[in-house]
Amino acid sequence: MPSPTPAQLRKLESLAKKAAGRAYAPYSQFRVGAAVLTTAGESFAGCNVENASFGLCNCAERTAISHAIVSSKKPIRLQCVVVYTPTKTATTPCGACRQVIHEFGPDARVISICDSTNRIDVSIGTLLPGAFGPGDLA
Ligand code: THU
Repeated sequence: MPSPTPAQLRKLESLAKKAAGRAYAPYSQFRVGAAVLTTAGESFAGCNVENASFGLCNCAERTAISHAIVSSKKPIRLQCVVVYTPTKTATTPCGACRQVIHEFGPDARVISICDSTNRIDVSIGTLLPGAFGPGDLA
């Protein structure tokens, strides 16, 4: 698994913060942005998209992954996911997003950033140990 370059990481952070500005979050007012980097070097952003039927809210991470799937010309494999939350300390992706990140990037690096210099930088394997994945269906 290649490691993102400092320039790629800066770009992902910028995309994630910018995407938070596009969030549709009228219920929580919690505006989240995410950006993913594929192993092909392409990057895609996403924001959370809420719904009056609260259970249908879509997190920024999953929006970014869907964006990558629909926009990339090839099957995607995630190298890195950056999530920005408007908080004082960094927060990690929810359980549903961990599962979806694992589906498309079982070796992905997951970086959480926020409104301070605090950050969390871990692998998806750390966030979701013993994950159920595509190989388990074989
Ligand atoms: N949310 C995300 O988009 N990503 C996260 O990592 C945490 C939570 C969204 C879901 C919901 O729209 C709002 O934040 C409050 O939970």
